[in-house]
Amino acid sequence: MNVLPFFLCFLLFSTFCSPSLSEHCNSHDKKVLLQIKRALNNPYLLASWDPKTDCCDWYCLECDPTTHRVVSLTMFSDDRLTGQIPYEVGDLPYLETLLFRHLPNLNGTIQPSIAKLKNLKTLRLSWTNLSGAVPDFLSQLKNLTYLDLSFNNLSGTIPSSLSSLPNLEALHLDRNKFTGSIPESLGMFQGKAPDLFLSHNKLTGTIPVSLGNMDFNTIDLSRNMLEGDASMLFGSKKTTREIDLSRNMFQFDLSKVEFPKSLARLDLNHNKIMGNIPPGLTGVDLQFMNVSYNRLCGQIPVGGRLQSFDYYTYFHNRCLCGAPLESCK
Ligand SMILES: *[C@@H]1O[C@H](CO)[C@@H](O)[C@H](O)[C@H]1NC(C)=O
Ligand SMILES: *[C@@H]1O[C@H](CO)[C@@H](O)[C@H](O)[C@H]1NC(C)=O
Ligand SMILES: *[C@@H]1O[C@H](CO)[C@@H](O)[C@H](O)[C@H]1NC(C)=O
Ligand SMILES: *[C@@H]1O[C@H](CO)[C@@H](O)[C@H](O)[C@H]1NC(C)=O
Ligand SMILES: *[C@@H]1O[C@H](CO)[C@@H](O)[C@H](O)[C@H]1NC(C)=O
Repeated sequence: MNVLPFFLCFLLFSTFCSPSLSEHCNSHDKKVLLQIKRALNNPYLLASWDPKTDCCDWYCLECDPTTHRVVSLTMFSDDRLTGQIPYEVGDLPYLETLLFRHLPNLNGTIQPSIAKLKNLKTLRLSWTNLSGAVPDFLSQLKNLTYLDLSFNNLSGTIPSSLSSLPNLEALHLDRNKFTGSIPESLGMFQGKAPDLFLSHNKLTGTIPVSLGNMDFNTIDLSRNMLEGDASMLFGSKKTTREIDLSRNMFQFDLSKVEFPKSLARLDLNHNKIMGNIPPGLTGVDLQFMNVSYNRLCGQIPVGGRLQSFDYYTYFHNRCLCGAPLESCK
């Protein structure tokens, strides 16, 4: 008797009619995912999360190709998703990426069970209505390389413990309601300095001198109420590409500042910066600059890119002159 037709028939049956036989999804993960779906009131975003199908095929997540454990959960762009981050996200122990983004009706605080996700490398909770403080437990997630809490309704002070994250490459805390001063510890990262985004908050006080020890690639402190000296962020030995200090109350003498050769964007507009523009700036290949609305004086040095910028780069200073402004008297 030829068994081949029966075998083929079985093969087709098991492939197309009975997905459970070939299901990769881990049953614990599947159970947790369905709890998450229920906690969020079965949002349209999770319509593909059908208990009869393999969870590794569902939208908004990824399984590890070998272990088939859920390693990534990414929910974004859904106005109708309401409620809080479900407690159960903490029960996906292999998660490396967790993202809730562009969900204007996601509210509540940063879910404490996230503390259990020790493998987390990327945590992005942004463009939501999350409120409350940044929890200290985030500093226990030692594998974090990317932490983005921007565009939320978070408040309180910036936890100084974040500097103990050894692998952090980017820290986005911009567009929230953070108050208090920048912690000294943000100048004490052990590894490479992360890109630091603190703009559009309500930060006050002077910036810690320790920040001068870090060679940030990008640092954005714009639109806060920071004051005093910020010259320690500069230095000819640094490799910084972007510095944005605009719309604060910084007050220091620009004449003595030495700029990194690598600097591509420099925005200092709306501060109380004084002195003149140092000739050294002609040796920097700037793509963008804005020093308007300060208290600068003297002739704009001639050379480099400095005359390629327009009037609005330099206007509203105490007595700056020379191209592209009016010539000096
Ligand atoms: C955000 O939450 C606050 C307080 O719960 C509420 O008043 C506001 O309408 C919410 N914003 C959005 C965009 O849902
Ligand atoms: C979240 O939003 C819902 C509906 O807008 C509201 O009923 C609830 O009180 C909010 N929860 C928190 C913690 O702000
Ligand atoms: C970081 O992740 C690795 C696996 O990617 C894991 O072995 C390690 O325990 C994690 N680190 C911490 C501090 O949990
Ligand atoms: C932030 O929360 C306040 C109430 O605490 C609310 O009035 C406001 O709408 C929220 N902002 C956003 C962007 O949702
Ligand atoms: C510089 O900033 C000022 C003040 O915000 C603005 O009016 C001007 O357009 C900016 N210039 C450039 C070139 O962006």
